[in-house]
Order: sequence, then C-alpha cells, then structure tokens
Amino acid sequence: MLFNQAYSLWRLAIVLSIFSGGAVAQNSSQILSIFESIVDCASCLAALIPLQALAHLGNDPFSDTFIAVCDAAQLEDPDVCSGLMSRLGPIIAHDLRSIDTTGQTATRLCDALFGFCASKTPNPFAVPLPPPSSSIAPPNTPTMRKTSFQVVHISDVHIDREYTVGSEANCTKNICCRNFADEAGDPITDPAQPFGNSKCDSPVSLADSMLDAVNSFDAEFVIFTGDVVEGAIWLTTQDEVTSDLTDFNAAMLSKITAPIFPAVGVYDSTPVNSFPRNTTDTTLGVQWVFDTQSAGWEHWIGSVASQQVDHISGSYAATVPDMNLVILSVNTQYWYRQNLWIYDSDAFQPDPNGIFSFMVEQLQAAETAGQKVWVIGHIPLGKSDLVEDQSNYYDQILQRYKDTIIGQFFGHSHKDQFEIAYSDYNDQTAANAVGVGLICPALTPTSGNPAFKVYDVDPDTFGIMNIRVIFANVTDPSFQENPIWTLYYDARETYGPLVGLPATSELTPAFWHNLTEVFVANDTAFQMFNTFLSRGGDVAPCTDADNCKNTTICDQRAFRSQNNCDVDEGAFGMLKRNVQGSQRREASECEGVSFRDILDEISNSKG
Ligand SMILES: *[C@@H]1O[C@H](CO)[C@@H](O)[C@H](O)[C@H]1NC(C)=O
Ligand SMILES: *[C@@H]1O[C@H](CO)[C@@H](O)[C@H](O)[C@H]1NC(C)=O
Ligand SMILES: *[C@@H]1O[C@H](CO)[C@@H](O)[C@H](O)[C@H]1NC(C)=O
Ligand SMILES: *[C@@H]1O[C@H](CO)[C@@H](O)[C@H](O)[C@H]1NC(C)=O
Ligand SMILES: *[C@@H]1O[C@H](CO)[C@@H](O)[C@H](O)[C@H]1NC(C)=O
Ligand SMILES: *[C@@H]1O[C@H](CO)[C@@H](O)[C@H](O)[C@H]1NC(C)=O
Ligand SMILES: *[C@@H]1O[C@H](CO)[C@@H](O)[C@H](O)[C@H]1NC(C)=O
Repeated sequence: MLFNQAYSLWRLAIVLSIFSGGAVAQNSSQILSIFESIVDCASCLAALIPLQALAHLGNDPFSDTFIAVCDAAQLEDPDVCSGLMSRLGPIIAHDLRSIDTTGQTATRLCDALFGFCASKTPNPFAVPLPPPSSSIAPPNTPTMRKTSFQVVHISDVHIDREYTVGSEANCTKNICCRNFADEAGDPITDPAQPFGNSKCDSPVSLADSMLDAVNSFDAEFVIFTGDVVEGAIWLTTQDEVTSDLTDFNAAMLSKITAPIFPAVGVYDSTPVNSFPRNTTDTTLGVQWVFDTQSAGWEHWIGSVASQQVDHISGSYAATVPDMNLVILSVNTQYWYRQNLWIYDSDAFQPDPNGIFSFMVEQLQAAETAGQKVWVIGHIPLGKSDLVEDQSNYYDQILQRYKDTIIGQFFGHSHKDQFEIAYSDYNDQTAANAVGVGLICPALTPTSGNPAFKVYDVDPDTFGIMNIRVIFANVTDPSFQENPIWTLYYDARETYGPLVGLPATSELTPAFWHNLTEVFVANDTAFQMFNTFLSRGGDVAPCTDADNCKNTTICDQRAFRSQNNCDVDEGAFGMLKRNVQGSQRREASECEGVSFRDILDEISNSKG
C-alpha cells in the first residue's frame, strides 16, 4: 500500500513534469503513463488535467490517442478498440472540456472511468412532494382472495440480428457467432448452432421461441424492461439500433396477443449507455430513440403515453385496460454511472430531464384517483452503478407513495434478484420493509440460461401472489432443435415454507426481508438462491469466506445505492493487482465491453 502510494506520487511527478512545459500528451505511451499514474482518487483527479488538455485539442485527436493506447496494449481486437474509442471518446472529451478538474463532477468522472473517488454520500436534496392526502389507506389484505391473473415479465433480450449459424462461436470478442470481417477465412472451431450459445447474444430464432412461450401463458399483460440491442457495441449505429428496436416491436406485436408495457434500456441507444441530458448542447442527442419507441409502443400504451415517451425522454404512464392499475415506465438512464454524458457540467442537476417530477405528477394523479401503480424501468435502484444522489431521490418518492406503488420491476443485471427498500435503513426489519424491486433474468444466454418470469397477481390489490421462473436449458440436447420453455422454480413453493408464509399472503416486501433472514441462517437455502441467479447456467461460488454471501445479502437489503455493500474504491489500478475489482464488476458485468472494462483489462494484464 505504502509502496504503491510512494510509487504513484513518483509517477505523477514524472507525468506532470512532461506536461508542465505546455506540451500536450498525444501519443499512446504518454497516455499509458498517465493511466499508470492512477492508483487512487488524488492521482486520478491529477490525471484529468493532462487528459483535459488533450480533449481541448479536439474530439479526433482525443479519440485517436485512446484508440492507439487500446491497440498498443493489445487489449481488444483492433476493430473493437477503434469502434469503441471512436464512439465514447467524443463524449469523454466533451466532459473534460466542460468541467473543473477539482469539482465533484470530476470525482464522479474518475469513478465512472477508473473506479476511484466513489462516494456513497448523496448530495442533500428534497424532492418536491405534495403532502399525503388523509384518505389514502394502506393496502389491506382481502378476506377472500379472488383468482389471480397472470403477468409476464421479460427483459434484456439482446437480439443479434447478424447472428449467423455456422460462424465462430468461440471468438476473442465480447460476443461471437457473427461473420466478423477480421475473422474471415479463419477455420471455424466451434460453429454457432441454430438457437444460441453462451458466448453469443440471442439469435432471432431464440427470441421468437421465447415470445411464443410467453404468449402461451394467457397473461393479462406483459412488461418488458429493456435492452433490445446486442452487445457488439463497437459496431452499433443509429440505423442499426433504430431497426433493431423497430423489428423487436414488430415481433412482440405479431407474437403476443396481450398488451405490452415496455421500458427503455441502456443498450437501446448508441453509443451504448449514452443518453445526454437536455441541458447538454450536442448533435449526438438520442431523441430518435424516443421517437422510434413512441411510434412503436403506441399500439399498446395509447396516444397520451406515446406522446409522453416523446416528450419525457422515454418515460410514460399508462393505465392497464379495464384495471385500476397504472404502469409508470421510467427511463433510468440519467441516473446511471456509465451514462458518460452526465459528467459534462459542474451544476447540480438533481432531476435530469424532469423524470422525477414526471413520476411525482403521475403518482399524485393515481393517488387522487385511487389507482395503484407498478413502476417499471431498466436499472434497479440499489446497486453501485446507480448514482447515489438519484437513487436517494427515487427513494424519497417511494417513501411518500408507498401505499400507491404496489410493484417495482427491473432488468439490467441479467440475474434473478430482488432489492428491498426500508422506511429506516438503520433498522432493516420486516416491519420497516416498504418496497421491493423485482429483477427479471435475461433472454440472452451470455449470463446463464434464457428465462422470464410469470407473476400471479391479486386482482384487487395488484400485489404479487407468486413468481414462476420459466427457462430454456441451453445445454440440453434438444435446445438446438427447439428450445423447451419449462418451469425452473416456483418462488412460493420453494421459499414459502422456509419463511412460514401463510397460504393467502402476498409476496410482500416483509416476506422478502424474512427470506434474507433465512439466507443468513440457512446456507443451503442461500446456495439455492445463488444457483437460481443464472438459472443454473453460470453459477459462481458465493460463500462467507470471500465475503460474497455477506455482500449479496447486504445488497438484497438495499434498494438505495448508498446502502449496498459493493466495493468501488480501487477497482482500477495499473500498478497493483485488481483484487477488489471483482465486486464492482459483479454489479456492472452485464454492460459488456465499456471504456472502463478495457481499462480494467489493462490493469489485469499489467498486474
Ligand atoms: C511520445 O512522445 C514522447 C515525448 O514527446 C517521446 O519521447 C516518445 O518517443 C513518443 N513515443 C511514441 C511511441 O511516439
Ligand atoms: C475456445 O478457444 C480457446 C482459445 O483458443 C480454447 O482454449 C478453448 O478450448 C476453446 N473452447 C471451445 C469450446 O472450443
Ligand atoms: C429539461 O427538461 C425539464 C423537465 O422537463 C424542463 O423543465 C427543462 O426546461 C428542460 N431544459 C431544457 C434546456 O430543455
Ligand atoms: C440442463 O441440461 C443439462 C444436460 O441435460 C443438465 O446437466 C443440467 O442439469 C440442466 N440444467 C438445469 C438447470 O436443469
Ligand atoms: C416476518 O418475520 C417476522 C418475525 O419473525 C414475523 O412477525 C412476520 O409475520 C414475518 N412476515 C412475513 C410476511 O412472513
Ligand atoms: C434450509 O434450506 C433447505 C433448502 O431449501 C431446506 O431443505 C431445509 O429444510 C432448510 N433448513 C432449515 C433448518 O430450515
Ligand atoms: C456482514 O458482515 C458484517 C461485518 O462482519 C456484519 O456486521 C453484518 O451483520 C454481516 N451481514 C450479514 C447480512 O451477514
């Protein structure tokens, strides 16, 4: 530790002496030495000074230098280096030109790019909230339950429309099973099969197969929590993303008879994760995403909500036909640490693009009308990849409208998870559990077996009575002929007896809290949950020994990112082993190749 710090200061002195003469670092070895100087928050902030000088030379010199660094270190295939850095470089350069390298935004940029200067202390801000009306009663338990209806939840489909049967499935890129130009002529060692591979995003055949299975459930409606586009993020263009979104909307419309309520995901844009705030003056805006989805979703969500998608940056509220239930779909991307556009101003912007004020307006309208609300969105609020400010502000809204918000549904992690919100995070008890975010596993086989969830819903309260996870087993021999979608587990049957759940009770936030108590005490039950995460398809050991179990349970009890136990500090460091990085990467692993992942690889290869 001490050695690292001393060494770091020494490196920094060298770096600064190189640039003190007014020369700007422009070649890859200079930039590499800047990266090598970054070992803690202070050295990261210092490194932003020469990087800012480089940014002032213009987007092209900035991106070209980063491409050269990526190539020189041979971290990724050259096409990935150039595709990714030329897409993300202009955003990072724009950020650096727009901010003071000593301000809070600079610390957050350091966190997003390098994993240093992480903070779990939100900037204090009180979301303007109308006072609760006295008439609103907490949801009560019906004495007689009516028959449940069903809702299907799908997420993270990541459909690769260039998936090619017979192409190489064992490649060196983020996703395989495509005819990549630089692999032309190479002998095929593992030919891609018709329905998918764990190193590849979903072929259209797999998505179609799932949509048919979804339709067979006779659901009242379907929710889809985003991420349509595949992970070849160094190649995506506005044309490709637009047609991918349009094609999937058409596929859902043709295969599913029930109404569908979708949300915007982080891949549903290009460059990946990139959603500039409306305070940013740029020609790289993503209004085209909202225009595309406004048109594509209108059939299901109606014209008022479709207008909202267009004007509220992808968010909308729509009443479910013939129900006293509103779906409030929120674009969570302005609260996402890997949306690099959010680091382009030193001005405090608590509610980018007015998403929170829209939520409050819609929740207040629902409360006044005596309606219940399900919030759906892509990124769950609890993990470290959600900015602690906006996670805290969302929580304020949840606390105020906890009797109106009956359900909260997300995707993004690709895993079958849940995150509990408490009225008092210092006293995490069943009685204080006020909400739960239910996270849907992914279709894409890259993080386990393809799956979706079926909820049994009480028609009076709109509470969840049961969850069934339906999956297709990628390694089953029949999968490549015709995937069989079958029950993986039934949450009520599996968890109910462990918690002592009464027969007529819903799966309330208190139930989920009690389940975490079971996990603490009963490691067999916890290991079952750990296997369920990937539908048995990609199980990583998780025990007390490496603190993984403790972190996992802590994170189950955190629907506010300031309360999770993810370790951020030190995720990047070219001069030391990336020991703590694994936990942070766990939180963001579904992002595939990002700027930071490449830097992580630099650090690992040097380590
Ligand atoms: C990079 O620039 C430095 C300083 O001008 C120079 O000494 C070095 O040779 C250059 N390296 C490359 C690879 O161009
Ligand atoms: C994939 O390629 C790697 C490296 O070439 C090789 O070690 C591995 O055995 C291959 N796996 C399969 C399933 O072909
Ligand atoms: C950004 O959106 C908010 C909320 O809708 C709005 O109040 C504000 O005027 C917009 N700002 C700009 C610069 O368009
Ligand atoms: C998937 O199928 C393989 C091969 O039949 C089997 O070994 C494995 O246990 C199955 N996985 C699950 C989760 O059922
Ligand atoms: C949770 O556990 C507490 C304490 O054992 C118990 O009083 C409560 O009824 C349980 N709640 C649920 C929903 O299981
Ligand atoms: C622990 O969990 C396992 C797996 O669900 C279950 O079979 C067992 O009965 C539980 N043990 C106790 C003491 O509840
Ligand atoms: C995690 O570990 C800490 C410190 O040892 C302990 O205080 C806490 O209770 C543990 N949490 C869980 C959920 O086991």
